[in-house]
Amino acid sequence: MRICIAGAGYVGLTTAAALADFGHEVICVDMEESKIESLRQGKVPIYEPGLDELIKKNVKKNTLLFSSQVEESIRDYPIILIAVGTPSQEDGSSNLTFINQVVEVIASTTNVYKIIITKSTVPPGTNEWIHQTLVAKGINEDLFDVVSNPEFLREGLALWDLYHPNKIVFGTKTSRPIKELKKLYVRGKAPYIFTSLTGAELIKYASNAFLATKISFANEMARICDAYEVDYADIAKGLGTDPRIGRYFLNSGLGFGGSCLPKDLSSLKHSALRKKVETKLLDAVREVNDAQIELYLNKLMTELPDLTEKQITVWGVTFKPGTDDLRSSPAITLINKLIEKGCRVHTHDPMVQLELPGVHSHTDQYESVTDSDALIISTEWPQFLESDWSEVKSRMKGSIVLDARNCIDEKLVRRQGLVYLGVGKQ
Ligand code: UGA
Repeated sequence: MRICIAGAGYVGLTTAAALADFGHEVICVDMEESKIESLRQGKVPIYEPGLDELIKKNVKKNTLLFSSQVEESIRDYPIILIAVGTPSQEDGSSNLTFINQVVEVIASTTNVYKIIITKSTVPPGTNEWIHQTLVAKGINEDLFDVVSNPEFLREGLALWDLYHPNKIVFGTKTSRPIKELKKLYVRGKAPYIFTSLTGAELIKYASNAFLATKISFANEMARICDAYEVDYADIAKGLGTDPRIGRYFLNSGLGFGGSCLPKDLSSLKHSALRKKVETKLLDAVREVNDAQIELYLNKLMTELPDLTEKQITVWGVTFKPGTDDLRSSPAITLINKLIEKGCRVHTHDPMVQLELPGVHSHTDQYESVTDSDALIISTEWPQFLESDWSEVKSRMKGSIVLDARNCIDEKLVRRQGLVYLGVGKQ
């Protein structure tokens, strides 16, 4: 199949590389010329395990091209896959400027049949709107099908998710494009879920909202466990053995961040309110999440009541391990709060040298704790779990280790005479 992917961001690039590898002829277009130029030279602007190699392999085979000629490419390819960004606006709704731009180009260039697939996360009703807009701009309905095909890619595991999907969702208005759509992906055992355009959009929001709900539930349970001096890890284990609940996404800690869960929660709430539907549960999920940073700061202050002039080291600055993405990272919010309280902040992250005023970033994990009063683990990178705690103890001035991801073996920390702090961890 000949596919033009609009948008060379996270979703666009990973999907382009995988579809090319599945045997399709793919062109990935973006208006940002410098980005396209770099990609042509083999420089991939994001970190995603395996992506560099997959792009190089398929560029070499000529199954993957990059271009900044957006109009010409959209005109010339029969399948258009929209993967542009839909960032949050101040009121929580999604900014659809980039979607509009692509739709404009499709409207001005379509004169033979095309399948238009939206992969970007868009509010319910957007794909219907795309269909109606094309009709209103004079494109005959015989000349196109709009398809809503949300992505379920986790950063750091996006290629795995593309090769091993647990479902493939297609929202369509008619059955006409279905035969072609079935040729798009490597399916494995994944079921197809066919639904309406808006149904597919809502499956995506429901998925991220549910994952966020599980995390806030875990965090609330960890607080209750903390009050009763019970290990939350035992509760998570107990919950996880029930297949109706499942163990995934029950890890307590600083809360959820990243470019998806917080944004999609806000956008879903906004969409619900537009139809006068209250979102009490979603609001509570957000509230619990927003309170996590303060909760951990209070925990720290049980041992260090006055943080002024204290030197605090933060291990892990990304929004989760396995990525270099700092977007909506709880660790960054925490660091800013520490600075507000007058702390001198030192950081270490395996992927990122943080450049933030007032922050000293270290490439060496142990050097970062030298002379610190406290160490906070804010991202559960595997190397932090294997730390040499005797080395940490010998370098630190103070002795507090705050495990803000409930990921460290507290016995190993305590054995070195360090003070271990966590929420819901005894
Ligand atoms: C999320 C979804 O997991 C993907 O399925 C979805 O496709 C993607 O958003 C998207 O909409 O594009 P991602 O943002 O990469 O993927 O990150 P997650 O792995 O979901 O983690 C989100 C946040 O939740 C992270 O800050 C992580 O630390 C936190 N988290 C996760 C917890 O606090 N506890 C957990 O048990 C799991």
